[in-house]
Amino acid sequence: MDDNVTVINHPLIAHKLTLMRRKNSSTQKFRSLLREVAHLLTYEITRDLELTTETIETPLQEMDAPTLAGKKLCFVSILRAGNGLLEGMVELMPSARVGHIGMFRDPESLQAVEYYCKVPQDIEERRVIVVDPMLATGNSAIAAITHLKKQGAKNMKFLCLLAAPEGVKALREAHPDVPVFTAAIDERLDEHGYIRPGLGDAGDRMYGTK
Ligand code: URA
Repeated sequence: MDDNVTVINHPLIAHKLTLMRRKNSSTQKFRSLLREVAHLLTYEITRDLELTTETIETPLQEMDAPTLAGKKLCFVSILRAGNGLLEGMVELMPSARVGHIGMFRDPESLQAVEYYCKVPQDIEERRVIVVDPMLATGNSAIAAITHLKKQGAKNMKFLCLLAAPEGVKALREAHPDVPVFTAAIDERLDEHGYIRPGLGDAGDRMYGTK
């Protein structure tokens, strides 16, 4: 893998991901674990945010204290599963703007079909983090990022929970300027476009559908 693919290695993330993979983990458990993992992933992916200082008063004295430099952020969720990751991210960074792109995967061709898009007007001035828990074929992520570039987005990262090697390769080839962050890269993609061993359908597992 190239330098622009980061597997966020952390014992807590690895442990929680294992709990999520278990087929008997309930919807409630899956959802709360996803929120916790989203916090941890956000902590890592925002490591390079710039800081400035602000003069504040503690109860004891004045000090120049670090604060985020106000570089504007935007999280873009690829519907519907992206919303599961998004929730935890917004909890950690409540002032971030949020965009949504609706994509579904044609079950025959496995190609991404866009049906909805709403993003902040000033997206070109923002650092954008595109989120989808599963990077499988890469088709949805590629289509979403292509669309966001047409809307003006310049500074993007892609964040997922689990990736297939095939999806990472496809996304890197289509958008080499967009670094990819994931909690794990699994063995392979199966013939139905599922990540193996994976965790099943992330949307179904978080919403209790199917
Ligand atoms: N989307 C999912 O939710 N799971 C997969 O394994 C692949 C794509």
